[in-house]
Parts: sequence; structure tokens; C-alpha cells
Amino acid sequence: MRIVIPLFACFLSSNLAQSFSPERRLFNKITPLSVSTSADEMTKETLFADKTRSNVEEYYGKTLQTSSDLKTNACLTAGSPPKFIRECLKNVHPTVMAKYYGCGLCIPQYDLTGCNILDLGCGAGRDVYLAAQLVGANGRVVGVDMTDAQLDVAREHQNYHAEKFGYKNTAFYKGYLESLSDVKELEKGSFDVIISNCVINLCTDKEAVLKSCFELLKPGGELYFSDVYSNRRVPQVLREDSVLWGECISGALYWNDFENLAKKCGFPDPRLVEDAPVTIKNKDVQELVENQGHGGLEFYSATYRLFKMDETLLEPACEDYGQAVIYKGTIPRAATKWTLDKGHVFEQGKVHPVCGNTYNMCKHNPKIAPHFEFIGDFSTHYGIFEGCGGGLPYDRNGASVDKSGGAASCC
Ligand SMILES: C[S@@+](CC[C@H](N)C(=O)[O-])C[C@H]1O[C@@H](n2cnc3c(N)ncnc32)[C@H](O)[C@@H]1O
Repeated sequence: MRIVIPLFACFLSSNLAQSFSPERRLFNKITPLSVSTSADEMTKETLFADKTRSNVEEYYGKTLQTSSDLKTNACLTAGSPPKFIRECLKNVHPTVMAKYYGCGLCIPQYDLTGCNILDLGCGAGRDVYLAAQLVGANGRVVGVDMTDAQLDVAREHQNYHAEKFGYKNTAFYKGYLESLSDVKELEKGSFDVIISNCVINLCTDKEAVLKSCFELLKPGGELYFSDVYSNRRVPQVLREDSVLWGECISGALYWNDFENLAKKCGFPDPRLVEDAPVTIKNKDVQELVENQGHGGLEFYSATYRLFKMDETLLEPACEDYGQAVIYKGTIPRAATKWTLDKGHVFEQGKVHPVCGNTYNMCKHNPKIAPHFEFIGDFSTHYGIFEGCGGGLPYDRNGASVDKSGGAASCC
């Protein structure tokens, strides 16, 4: 299914800086075009994409100066990152930090030394400069964004960070996430990890973005990214609101549409790592969302990891082959347990029964595999892995990663 959103005829203007009023439309009104032919459909989509991009570009390039200008907290990380990340963030220039609009921690928790990382929608570069410290002098971090004003800030601070770290391993390119093949510097199959922080919800063609990620990743590599999702499809009226779109709310995908789209784009088993409810701390926006969502529309920030693997390695469902893994406790800063995803927290030394997909995710990622012992093979099939999938995957009460010490649950 292609996620298509009707055309806006809206524009951002200085009134974005004003506070919301429930009576006044938050957005400038969008007029759906009444066209019917497929050529017209394409024009409609193109116009929608152009308009949305220019709205978003203006929002992040001009309207917002720092994260304190945001009207909701959807684009802000909820929890405090781990200590080693906080230490790295101390080395990032305050101007770059002030222009951080992310909604999660999108750094995989294994040794990233030497990795080639791509940050999609890097903004002013906060996560690029964070990752640059983790990959070290022999690694490389590339940021792509469409907004010049954001890229300018990122580039202006390249030398500052090179001096601070003792090496220069970053690059920034301008481009649209929907047409990454136009960014010639990005080589197919060359990235160990692709990260993205609160950006894909802003993109008009999410399918194109995910398909490009699949092409750009190395086999065994992963897209590890934080974004905003909803518990049901976002009503049209909200999607037509350019401010709410810019605030990372109305472009959010319903979680099950996202998971199905990921599968369609080559990632058969998307894994949720952590999540937190988005609390819209703006009375008027909250009211509008409640009214339009019939009191039941909820938003969550969530971090997913999508492994690129040969189609023979990942199946559409979690199948049980009687396999198990044992975590050796050797991943840096994770001596007692290591989290693959929300349903898999592996305790050091404990035998954890796993489905075939989890087995292969660990076995075929070169950064993860050396830290596990693998028990069993694929010779006998025991049916579906019990407790796999179904229902809203997020925690309404704000609990995040499973801290129970690793139940044998699956996805
Ligand atoms: C919410 S900000 C997040 C920026 C950065 N990841 C951070 O954490 O600070 C969204 C960023 O995505 C960029 N962006 C949005 N849609 C885009 C698109 N279709 N192509 C490229 N960049 C896009 C915007 O220019 C903006 O810098």
C-alpha cells in the first residue's frame, strides 16, 4: 500500500509564531483538488510533496530557531540517554544542540567503531556529531537534509568538532529523502547503519524513503530510527494542518501501516526497541486532536530497528525451530544484559529460546554475532513462536524497553 495524502493548498506564514486557537484552523486551509485521471493523480501527489516540503523547510529553516520554539513536545526526546551518550553530547557545540528536534535515541547499542553511518534528515547535525565520536577516526558519518539553514549550521561546526575529536569524519549533503538516489555521494550497499531522528513522519512518500534505505544498507546492516506513530490512522483534517505536520504529528503513520510498509520495502520483521507516549503539552492542539480523533487518537515516539537481510534469513512471522542464544556479556557497556528490542533483553550467560528471525538477526549482523553463542539450527520446525505479535505494541503508561531481564517473548 502506498501512503498517499491529499494535496494541500496551504502555506506557512508568520502566523505560525502565534499561539493556536481552537476556533481558528491551525493550518492554512488545504483544498483537495478534484482531479480524476492517473496523470492528474501524479500531479496532485507531486504538488502535495512540493508544498509539504516547502512548508517543512520553512518551519525548520526559519520559523524555529531553537527547540524551545516548538509548539508541542512531539519532536523532543522523552527520556534521558545513557551516561556514555550524555558524555559524548557534552562535546557537541551548544548551537548545534539548541537546534536538536529529535524524538528518541537512534544509536544502536553495540560497538560502532569503524562503521559507516548515514543520518537521514540530520538537521543541524546533533546526531551526526554524536555518532562521529562513536565510530572513531576510521568510521564515517554522513548527514542528508533538504533545509539549507539546517545544513549551514551543521557545516559551520564541522571544524569545531574535528578539532574537538582529533579527526574529521563527517560530511553533509543536501537532498530529499524521497529521492536519495539523486545524492550521488551515497553509494548503494555501503552503510552499516542508517539512523534518522523524527524525520520520516515529515516525508510525503515514506515508501520511497524506506526502499532507498534498503538499497543503501550493507547486507546485515540496519535502519535504526526514532519517529512518531499513532494508534489509528490520523484523520484527514489533522493531516491537512501544516503546523501539525511540521510539528511531527499529523504526518505520523498508524503503527500497523508502518510495519506493513516496512515489510513491503524489504524489512520483513521490524523490531520495536522502545516507545513513549507523546504528550502534547499545548492545550489547543490537544483539544483539536481529541475532537478530530474522537477522544481515542494517541501518538507515540518509537524507535525501531529494521535489519536488511537476505530474504531466506528473515521470515514474515516468528517461527520456532527450537533454537536459543546465549549472550556472552561482551558488548561494551552491557556486561550483564543487552537489548535487541523491546521483547528481547538477553541476560549474560542465560539460555534464551528465540525464533528463527531473532536467531538470524543476531547471527548475521557482524557487530552482534561475536557476542553470542548460537544453539540449534533450522532442521526442525515447531510451528509459530508463541506470543508473537498482535495489538498495539506501545505502552500507554510510558513504560519503555522491557526491563524484566528477558522473558522468552518474541516480537
Ligand atoms: C524534526 S527535524 C529533526 C532534525 C534532526 N534529525 C534532529 O534530531 O535534530 C526534521 C528535519 O528533517 C528534514 N526533512 C524533513 N523532510 C525532509 C525530506 N523530505 N527530505 C530531506 N529532509 C527532510 C528537515 O529539514 C529537518 O531538518
